[in-house]
Amino acid sequence: MDLIVTDLKLPGMNGLEFLQEAKRWNASVPIVVMTAYGTVETAVEAMKAGASDYVLKPFSMAELRLVIGKELDMQRVREENRSLREALGKRYQYQNIVARSAKMQEVLALVERVASTNSTVLLGGESGVGKDLIARAIHQNSRRASGPFIKINSTAIPDNLFESELFGYEKGAFTGANASKPGKFELADKGSLFLDEIGDVPAPIQVKLLRVLQEREFERLGGTRTIKVDVRLIAATNKDLRAALEQGTFREDLYYRLNVVPIDIPPLREHKEDVPDLVNHFLLRFGRENGKQVQQITPEALKVLMDYHWPGNVRQLENTVERAVALSTGPVIHAQDISLDSGVPRSAAGAPASLLPEGMTLEQWEDEIIREALRRANGNKSQAARMLGLSRNALRYRLSKIGVPDD
Ligand SMILES: Nc1ncnc2c1ncn2[C@@H]1O[C@H](COP(=O)(O)OP(=O)(O)OP(=O)(O)O)[C@@H](O)[C@H]1O
Ligand SMILES: [Mg+2]
Repeated sequence: MDLIVTDLKLPGMNGLEFLQEAKRWNASVPIVVMTAYGTVETAVEAMKAGASDYVLKPFSMAELRLVIGKELDMQRVREENRSLREALGKRYQYQNIVARSAKMQEVLALVERVASTNSTVLLGGESGVGKDLIARAIHQNSRRASGPFIKINSTAIPDNLFESELFGYEKGAFTGANASKPGKFELADKGSLFLDEIGDVPAPIQVKLLRVLQEREFERLGGTRTIKVDVRLIAATNKDLRAALEQGTFREDLYYRLNVVPIDIPPLREHKEDVPDLVNHFLLRFGRENGKQVQQITPEALKVLMDYHWPGNVRQLENTVERAVALSTGPVIHAQDISLDSGVPRSAAGAPASLLPEGMTLEQWEDEIIREALRRANGNKSQAARMLGLSRNALRYRLSKIGVPDD
């Protein structure tokens, strides 16, 4: 069986029970539920219980076909992804993206599989991990590559301008609207719309976004004409959207619409193996830009960069290398050319003012020490446990908490 389409109102059994039963029977079959208007809460319940998507009644065959098509696409993607990962050794390479580590390879594998679909993608990850970069890579590797890539940053738009930014306005919609203007959704037609910091979208706009995602249509502010667009949405957030869900500041139904394909980009401290490649990548770039012949870094300088925990992730590393290139007097970067923490000299970095490294919580610091132990023990868990004074089981528990797979 490829897919199940079910109503939530069934004779003899509650639709949610049916869903759970079906999931128990085969967890990987996508289930699309049909539900009446005004019961969106039930739809959300159904998504939580494992439904893949829903259609609101009344719906057209075209709508249903679209949802089913998308689910079957995604199902295929998931399966291909699994078999690909099994087919050992395939390495993903994208121009301008450094990704030697297994963690980044996983990210790129997802990018590759998802780019060719029309599914909405939700990019997660701390500031500076490369969400913009990945969003562009998805667009450039999609069938929409020749179409526009439009970016909109939610934090940069005042609440009262949000709607007109996204959906445009007609002449006379508000004082000062002397001419009509298309919004970003229209501009992104046949291309991709990158909605950055989605967690900051104000509540009234969240409702409107939901409608566009469901129906692919909207009206301009002050307009009556319904506009249809063909836009692939890529959203990003550096916040935990789940927490926003719990606090009620982000709509659940929108979250499930967005979260079709989540791609989480790990912080740099979790893939430090990429630091040397990243450094070379940036050295080349800044050397070229500054017309300098800097092409090398001493092992000591590289060690300084490897030992740091990078709270500002790749962007901070990029800035650090840029500064080092600017400061270096010859073709080689030495340890003393490197200044970390926005210009604070290295000697002062460990000053007793703060117990923890800048930008780190105690919990992150603990996680980092555990990872470091594992690195030094070359992945040998017994040895890492000894270094940390933990039992093997205690270490295993902590590793599972920070998402390191057990083998
Ligand atoms: N894997 C990578 N390879 C090469 N460059 C990278 C990589 N990851 C990030 N960068 C570079 O680091 C900088 C920051 O990346 P980007 O702007 O994509 O981060 P972000 O996650 O969008 O950050 P923010 O949350 O602050 O918006 C960019 O200049 C980007 O080109
Ligand atoms: Mg960004």
